[in-house]
Amino acid sequence: MTLHLSPEQIAALKSTLDWWARHGVEPLPEATPGPRSSAPRASAPSPNPAQPTASAAAARAAGFRQPNPEDDGLALAQSAGDLEALRAALERFEGCNLKNTARNLVFSRGNPKARLMIMGEAPGREEDEAALPFVGEAGQLLDKMLAAIGLAEDDVYITTIVPWRPPGNRKPTEGEVEACLPFAQRHIALKNPDLLVFAGGLSAQSLLKSKTGIMSLRGRWHDYAIDGKTIAALPMIHPSFLLRRPQEKAKAWQDLLALKTRLAAL
Ligand code: URA
Repeated sequence: MTLHLSPEQIAALKSTLDWWARHGVEPLPEATPGPRSSAPRASAPSPNPAQPTASAAAARAAGFRQPNPEDDGLALAQSAGDLEALRAALERFEGCNLKNTARNLVFSRGNPKARLMIMGEAPGREEDEAALPFVGEAGQLLDKMLAAIGLAEDDVYITTIVPWRPPGNRKPTEGEVEACLPFAQRHIALKNPDLLVFAGGLSAQSLLKSKTGIMSLRGRWHDYAIDGKTIAALPMIHPSFLLRRPQEKAKAWQDLLALKTRLAAL
């Protein structure tokens, strides 16, 4: 059967598919012939004020429901004026499919006034159950690593880019990370730490907008720019990777010592 669509209906379909993709709903394989682009997607819906109006009209013409404000991660995240408001904004956010399968929102643990902020990847089963990040085996190793340089829970503020557990502890998809990124960025801006640690490649690559692997990114300080401010950020090997490859612990130790030196110089 051939479907005849008007240019407005085609524009509406494209706009809706693009919007779904940005929020983690992947197209069916048959709908995407050819290789998938690995280029990062835009982190937020277009700021062009004319675009929502045009696509709204087109979507209406094609009979599509327009996204509601609870789906707009960038606007919700930016509307939060403090960490509690950001948590509440995430509770309202409907733009990431992981929320439907996770038990709890995993927001943060530690001290919101600490100078050091650690940004991990996504919660696992234990974190989902406890509604706290890094409380499973990898989290216990992280605590030991921090203790080795004299840091207790009260000396750090710990969170993750994706605040809901991906089913079966799988890696979050590019779309899921993109949907949650405005909240992670706002989280950093509101927390406003003196130093940042990106725990793992996903965290480092998505926040630094880099395609370089964690083994090359780690061990060097990077400038993380947010809200007109620059924060020194150190990518480190994720503790769950160290559990699988303990032979990499020597590199993690070097990074911890670099972190200790930098903290002492503040
Ligand atoms: N890995 C993470 O990045 N975060 C957690 O909370 C647990 C494991």
